[in-house]
Amino acid sequence: MNKSLFSFVLLCICLLQISKLGLCLQGKAHKGNNGLKRRGVTSVTSFGAVGDGKTDDTKAFLNAWKAVCNGGSRGNRQLLVPRGKTFMLKPLTFEGPCKSSSIFFLIRGNLVAPNHPWHAGTYPAWISFDSINGLVITGGGTVNGRGSVWWRKVHHRPTAMHFNNCNGLHIYNLRHLNSPRNHISLGCSENINLSGLNMFAPGDSPNTDGIDISNCRGVDIRDSVIATGDDCIAINRGSSYINITGIFCGPGHGISVGSLGENGYFSAVEEVRVKNCTLTNTMNGVRIKTFQNGSGFARKISFEDIKMVASENPIIIEQNYHDRANNAEASFEYSNSQSCHVNRLHHTLSGSGNGRGVKVSDVSYTRIHGSSASDEAITMNCDADLGCVDIVMNHVNIVSARSGHKVLASCKNVHGKYFDSLISCQKKH
Ligand SMILES: *[C@@H]1O[C@H](CO)[C@@H](O)[C@H](O)[C@H]1NC(C)=O
Ligand SMILES: *[C@@H]1O[C@H](CO)[C@@H](O)[C@H](O)[C@H]1NC(C)=O
Ligand SMILES: *[C@@H]1O[C@H](CO)[C@@H](O)[C@H](O)[C@H]1NC(C)=O
Ligand SMILES: *[C@@H]1O[C@H](CO)[C@@H](O)[C@H](O)[C@H]1NC(C)=O
Repeated sequence: MNKSLFSFVLLCICLLQISKLGLCLQGKAHKGNNGLKRRGVTSVTSFGAVGDGKTDDTKAFLNAWKAVCNGGSRGNRQLLVPRGKTFMLKPLTFEGPCKSSSIFFLIRGNLVAPNHPWHAGTYPAWISFDSINGLVITGGGTVNGRGSVWWRKVHHRPTAMHFNNCNGLHIYNLRHLNSPRNHISLGCSENINLSGLNMFAPGDSPNTDGIDISNCRGVDIRDSVIATGDDCIAINRGSSYINITGIFCGPGHGISVGSLGENGYFSAVEEVRVKNCTLTNTMNGVRIKTFQNGSGFARKISFEDIKMVASENPIIIEQNYHDRANNAEASFEYSNSQSCHVNRLHHTLSGSGNGRGVKVSDVSYTRIHGSSASDEAITMNCDADLGCVDIVMNHVNIVSARSGHKVLASCKNVHGKYFDSLISCQKKH
């Protein structure tokens, strides 16, 4: 081999290696763009969080949050709670606005509340998020409210995670356990997606709603399992354009619009679609509940493709709920639906009324099937003056969960249409 040929071969090998390196770098860059940019991730541990389940990591989390929220630089907008560790947090608020238009909160590990109650104020929450736009919370980790130290011992109990004024919020792929009260409450926000959530608390734990919504517009909740002690999902006043799809609910109190109009307040909910959900051993199935002394409306609500498995009250509208002094449920539900700090939103759903009741109209039940644990599969108790109007039932076929029993519908002041339903407020059309 002469010298020039040798150099040529060497050059070729070199070029090959360089091109391999190039490919390799390209691959790395591709991976980087696709998933986590290592550089852009801020771990709470780098701000001193310990994660042994005992040390108070609140301060470290708040400092890490400040760095991410104020950081602003392109990559540095991901807060990481690392896998394999358990971080104990006291009540805290993650506040915006942040520099970046989107912030990732990656919960890979576990968050736990203190294992003793604390004094919880008027709208109490363990973990609050306030005024953060484009917040994404995910990571496959667990949020454990350790509610058992509160249940039946303390009257004012906190929500586990509360969101106020968080537009463009996206929460997916997380586990929520044993909140002292509601697991997630959404308030005063627009454009929210929740999916792939698993929420568990004992069936007899008090007021442990899965997800509460108030004063929100544009919420999509899908593909989640909610098994808790109260409503799986409750849609409270000031809420509109709410889609709920692919939810497995139960045990719990079902999927509920309201209560609306407690203490005589104006309350309005519209444009709600509940679709493709399964409710198992729930106290109520799909419910609309309004107070007699309130005002406002619940309208344009549809329930479609719902399967009931031994639900106690599969379909229920209660329009004449009475306000009572010291009504524990009324005050509980009112405190769920706090008013907004941001008045820019929700003009359309505010108003005042004469307190003669909350109007219920344009509600459809389509392809509701399965079984009722009680003999009364449909209960509609509507006000003599207002009535419930434009109630449509289409293919409502519920049978008794108990062999030999027949189910019936109990309806007062209901106006509507019925198609192909085994059971309805009227006879078949
Ligand atoms: C929610 O999902 C819809 C439809 O998939 C999408 O258009 C919207 O941008 C999402 N919003 C957020 C906040 O993720
Ligand atoms: C709810 O579903 C309807 C019909 O699929 C869709 O047009 C609407 O954009 C959805 N709204 C939200 C907030 O996801
Ligand atoms: C109904 O929801 C289940 C559970 O999330 C899902 O697997 C299924 O694809 C959904 N079906 C339709 C027709 O949307
Ligand atoms: C609700 O209305 C009833 C009947 O008008 C009245 O007796 C009662 O005091 C009212 N309750 C409240 C809390 O306003």
